[in-house]
Amino acid sequence: MTNAIAILDYGSQYTQLIARRVRELQVYCELFPWDAPEETVQAIHPAGYILSGGPLSVYAKDAPTLPPYVIESGLPVLGICYGMQLLVYTLGGRVSPAGEREYGPAEIETLADNPLLPSGKQPVWMSHGDRIETLPPGFRVLARSGNCPVAALGDEKNRWFGVQFHPEVRHTPGGRELLSRFVMEICKAEADWTPASIITQSVERIRAQVGNERVLSAVSGGVDSSVATALVRRAVGDQLTAILVDTGMLRKDERSQVEAAFQQSLGGGLTVVDASQTFLSRLAGVTEPEVKRRIIGETFIRIFEAQALKVGKPRFLVQGTIYPDVVESSAPDRSKAERIKTHHNVGGLPSDLSFELVEPLRYLFKDEVRAVGEALGLPSELVWRQPFPGPGLAVRCLGEITAARLEKLRQADAIFTTELAEAGFLGENSGEEGVAQAFAVLLPVRTVGVMGDQRTYQEVVALRAVTTSDFMTADWARLPPDLLARVANRIVNEVSGVNRVAYDITSKPPATIEWE
Ligand code: XMP
Repeated sequence: MTNAIAILDYGSQYTQLIARRVRELQVYCELFPWDAPEETVQAIHPAGYILSGGPLSVYAKDAPTLPPYVIESGLPVLGICYGMQLLVYTLGGRVSPAGEREYGPAEIETLADNPLLPSGKQPVWMSHGDRIETLPPGFRVLARSGNCPVAALGDEKNRWFGVQFHPEVRHTPGGRELLSRFVMEICKAEADWTPASIITQSVERIRAQVGNERVLSAVSGGVDSSVATALVRRAVGDQLTAILVDTGMLRKDERSQVEAAFQQSLGGGLTVVDASQTFLSRLAGVTEPEVKRRIIGETFIRIFEAQALKVGKPRFLVQGTIYPDVVESSAPDRSKAERIKTHHNVGGLPSDLSFELVEPLRYLFKDEVRAVGEALGLPSELVWRQPFPGPGLAVRCLGEITAARLEKLRQADAIFTTELAEAGFLGENSGEEGVAQAFAVLLPVRTVGVMGDQRTYQEVVALRAVTTSDFMTADWARLPPDLLARVANRIVNEVSGVNRVAYDITSKPPATIEWE
């Protein structure tokens, strides 16, 4: 890698967004804790540095510092918010402490012709923190706002810049342009982080790691496991054994879609294990959500283990870990976010079934995973699937799980998601503002209805559709009433045994996205 940007993380909630924006410019970048060892950061051969924002004041006790190698490198540096103050403070300027940090919209005005900002005024998302009192030698003010006399500054000779606002958030419409000027023009990085180059590099890395050994992969029907498996197949061909365990709790047509995708794009080689009867019999009579999860986790592992032993227990296992998972578990002060997620790692592999992991998506954001999936020729229904929980429909079939109830749920779910996709709210064309996850839930209650002249006493389907960018918090999607009416009508008419449909209007928190 010679074209990368190193982003030093000082703890801002927006740090991951900086990385996403740089990747959108098709330039590779990586996030590092600000105190990461110099060799780790240098290993990506950065063409420049971005210093993120952070919650502290540069004067705070134990405030994070600027590692000397950043300035000594002679490479361009862009400090954002805390990063800007740190740059000023480290290079001999003066920053005066203000009380609380405050965020909000502001308008900045460019004061001098400079390579970072266009002339004139523009709206930004300002972070009012400490104030810059004195500039370090060689710097000049590039922009100001009503409230902030130094909204941007720079030392053009050394290519050191700082902005008090957040160019990475959508509320700064010119932010993309600013980051592009810094990355492409000031750092002179080239846009070579394309799906094709990602595939080439991943294939080389996988081959180097795996050599002639055998690799095992569990395919779930989700995007990440499919793309990870496809990359490994591209890299090592038949050394890979891919297994799909049909738990009986997959979505409508999920199994056949995965089989077809393997057949058409990956040259076949998918072992499908139909274990639905085993799962159903172990779940019979169970209604407690955590017990359901545990039974599914354990059953899955034992079935997977039996398959692994059949092919001589390969040394390597493919895992679809993606970059946000890596960042969340390694960044400072994010341990809370990590804890919320751990309950999702159902079961985990027992110690007697240990593998070395192959994680080809470890450095990719979700949108990059999808772009790679498309470049590998995977069908778009698979590439644009929404996230699906490990325990599958079990956590959406409230109360007892039976084959008949699962079938009702599958039908209702397919009606809802198909209608949403057709209306452009879900999938490939929905964009960042679209619905992130939508599904049906079958409730363990029956209600009275009337159909024709008949009184009915049947089950209820709840619909859940949320918007979210990180799945940690979510809001319910404001879907058009006509669309909801059409879905409810179709479900009641087409799914026998369901006479009522409800729409979930709680956000997360206090509710969760799933119902169990
Ligand atoms: P919640 O319901 O906690 O879900 O708001 C957040 C996201 O995680 C998914 N989820 C799971 N994923 N195993 C998984 O692999 C699980 O047990 C599980 N439970 C929830 C959920 O679909 C949503 O995307």
